[in-house]
Amino acid sequence: MAKKLWEKNTEVNPEIERFTVGRDRELDLLLARYDVLGSLAHSTMLQSIGMLTSDEMKSLHNELRNIYGTIEKGDFIIEEGVEDVHSQVELMLTRTLGDTGKKIHSGRSRNDQVLVDLKLFTRHELQCVCEAVKELFDTLIAQSERHKDVLMPGYTHLQVAMPSSFGLWFGAYAESLADDMLFLQAAYRMCNRNPLGSAAGYGSSFPLNRQMTTELLGFDSMNYNVVYAQMGRGKCEKNIAFALASVAGTLAKLAFDACMFNSQNFGFVRLPAECTTGSSIMPHKKNPDVFELLRAKCNRLQALPNDILLIMNNLPVGYFRDLQIIKELFLPAFESLKECIAMATYIVQRIEVNKDILADSRYDAMFSVEEVNRLATEGMPFRDAYKKVGLDIEAGNFTPRKEIKHTHEGSIGNLCNREICALMESICSGMDFGKANRAEKALIGR
Ligand code: ARG
Repeated sequence: MAKKLWEKNTEVNPEIERFTVGRDRELDLLLARYDVLGSLAHSTMLQSIGMLTSDEMKSLHNELRNIYGTIEKGDFIIEEGVEDVHSQVELMLTRTLGDTGKKIHSGRSRNDQVLVDLKLFTRHELQCVCEAVKELFDTLIAQSERHKDVLMPGYTHLQVAMPSSFGLWFGAYAESLADDMLFLQAAYRMCNRNPLGSAAGYGSSFPLNRQMTTELLGFDSMNYNVVYAQMGRGKCEKNIAFALASVAGTLAKLAFDACMFNSQNFGFVRLPAECTTGSSIMPHKKNPDVFELLRAKCNRLQALPNDILLIMNNLPVGYFRDLQIIKELFLPAFESLKECIAMATYIVQRIEVNKDILADSRYDAMFSVEEVNRLATEGMPFRDAYKKVGLDIEAGNFTPRKEIKHTHEGSIGNLCNREICALMESICSGMDFGKANRAEKALIGR
């Protein structure tokens, strides 16, 4: 049995084959279960338009569900000589079902197959990312509330600037994640539209029922125009990559802060010993390697939209094999981000804060503005108060009053965490993963 879907009479040059198949046999494994879901929907639709008998559809469904089971067990492989997951599944169907297996590709192309696989994969992964982001958000809010009265220095130019607090610091990253979640929501909605039926990018002369596959796969709607459906390859990944990069940006900054504040020269936070690593030569070391690796991985993730852009940029309309390479960057990005979010959540839950930072007189000057404002409240013009306090500090005559009274929205004394949570909730409630999950379960018969 031919292992290549397109093999006719000429032998393929093995070097050319190795080069064109590239890493598909390995990477397509991530798409396998979604390829099966797509085929379940497509074959149901083919039966409805008379291209398959009920018995043929049933035997295809049985076999596809067996393959799904093999994938779940981790036993699915793309055999030597088989190009990709699409070929492997068709080969398995044809081996067991003969002519019925050979009918499944009616009205579709590997171009719309890989499109639908990518959409389904991404939809699932985005759901996981959103759930993980929400967990980190909740952890940050809890820490912000727990430590809302613990002051720390705020910096500009890395110079001691004004009073800040752990309530503000943790809460800032929570609010940042709320904005990232907006991006993820947009990414999810863009992703959740059905490209199946666009075939090679120009549709088909079979009377395909695209509305039916859209519903069976639990998509919100379809990529209607078949040319646009194909044009979405690369564009969709790039835009989703922007959402991932947004989360990664938040994490990378948090990681840098944590490394810096954990250094002896700051001593603002302490990572629990179990979250640090040692040195082979310096016996005293407890290094924040986790946050350093997290920072590097997240910085790399922030390059992803650009990496994808460079591959797909300037391609005209229609499918090109260039697009295959995007999978190498895009598919593993989710695992990397999920791992980083999980690590950040684990450590943020356990991080200890120094409640006594301000006892150190090196931070006294950060109360300068508090003193200026106090004098201004008593009636001294702001500029005069500014000058007086400045001269006092230079003359060594400044004794800070360390009580803080900030009351406006989002300040030390009024964090607005409730509002930040409401913002996050309103974004999350606009995302419904249930429909997609139910549709997939129904397709595999569970
Ligand atoms: N492996 C290919 C990809 O990822 C599948 C589509 C192949 N289509 C084609 N016309 N050669 O793009």
